[in-house]
Amino acid sequence: MQISPSILSADFANLEAELRAIGNADWAHVDVMDAHFVPNLTLGLPVVESLVAVSPIPIDCHLMIEDPDRWAPPYAAAGAQSVTFHVEAAADPRRLARDIRAAGARATMALKPGTPWAPYEELLPELDMVLVMTVEPGFGGQSFMADQMPKVAAVRESVRRHGGQVWVQVDGGVSARTIEQCAQAGADVFVAGSAVYGAEDAAAAVDELRALATAHAH
Ligand code: DX5
Ligand code: ZN
Repeated sequence: MQISPSILSADFANLEAELRAIGNADWAHVDVMDAHFVPNLTLGLPVVESLVAVSPIPIDCHLMIEDPDRWAPPYAAAGAQSVTFHVEAAADPRRLARDIRAAGARATMALKPGTPWAPYEELLPELDMVLVMTVEPGFGGQSFMADQMPKVAAVRESVRRHGGQVWVQVDGGVSARTIEQCAQAGADVFVAGSAVYGAEDAAAAVDELRALATAHAH
């Protein structure tokens, strides 16, 4: 059970300190938004390079961008240890996952809430993680979509049948109130932005979330 706090809810003027504040987490989740694939704009490759250089924990880079076929592998080459692309934006997801792995990162494919899993199940051998979005991507602090839990369970079932080591990640509205149902459905990597950086003690929030997830493992 791994926790990946999203720095989208952190203080962007103090990112090095904000990364140190979650040094007990498994990953630091970095949301890259391009104002095209999603309506919001955050940060890009130069900032990710700087974060990689100072982060005490590996970077989990979630790319909400158009043309990931072209732009995602450079994030892997820059040292992000996990690189996530959205299948809705990818022209050739199989080749893209291979390119990300070849550039040295774990390859993750993300699904928006309206995107079904079944058409992409055959891509599983190319992937290290599948991200099931539990909000519409674009903003932190939105309400958790419990109707995505059957998709989490379907991905977990595919992984079980396939017999690989693929992780199942959830992102959006994950908190102490909602993490248990995610774990029960089969998620094992949990992104949390506002629930961690909105807490008085970010590190304590990470430990609490991990304990709740572990207690409710499917
Ligand atoms: C949303 C981002 C999330 C976001 C999660 O598009 O992908 O990573 O930061 O924030 P919370 O946990 O506040 O929903
Ligand atoms: Zn994210």
